[in-house]
Amino acid sequence: MSQLSDFHRERIRTVLKASILMPVITIRHPGDAVPLCQALFAGGIRVMEITLRTEYGAEAIKNVREALPEAWVGAGTVTCLAQYREAEAAGAQFIVTPGVTEALLEFSLTSEAPLLPGISTASELMLGYCLGYREFKFFPAEVIGGVSALNAFDGPFPDATFCPTGGIRRHTARDYLALNNVQTVGGSWLTPEEIVAKKDWAEITNIAAGSLSELS
Ligand code: 3PG
Repeated sequence: MSQLSDFHRERIRTVLKASILMPVITIRHPGDAVPLCQALFAGGIRVMEITLRTEYGAEAIKNVREALPEAWVGAGTVTCLAQYREAEAAGAQFIVTPGVTEALLEFSLTSEAPLLPGISTASELMLGYCLGYREFKFFPAEVIGGVSALNAFDGPFPDATFCPTGGIRRHTARDYLALNNVQTVGGSWLTPEEIVAKKDWAEITNIAAGSLSELS
């Protein structure tokens, strides 16, 4: 059975090491993508997940890659191979899925952009684990046991690392970051919809910088 390559593993590790916070960004107006991500970058955020939840996701990835060559820009909410390919073509440097399918896990072994597979159970984790994956998204964190579940995973899977997302907020991120199997937490709380709707980019920078300094 093919296994995850060292290149893919190292890329995902590098991405997760680059930031304790990974904003999960959904673009509702195409013109927002670059100024929003520039505002996050100005606040110290170096890793961004732009979801394919809207029709603007892929174009946003392309534009943000060009505007912020020093940031790590990934595609999120990738649920099928067509979206995986679309994200790679847009220049996504990594791919995040909310869950796993065998097709996605196998495709990603030879893909250009490495995968951070989403899991919510030990069984899903094991599908990736036997292919060599050790880094996972843990989703939706707050409703599947949160910090306690991640502590429990540390028993059977001590070499696995998780990026929890789903229901995490600024005041709860610290509990996750204190775990020895968590390096990065993600979520949409870094880009509140009402602030993005007002195009208050200075406030986005404040949220990013304030969260990073509070949690570092
Ligand atoms: C994700 O895809 O990671 C989640 O939608 C993020 O969850 P949140 O919106 O509750 O932060």
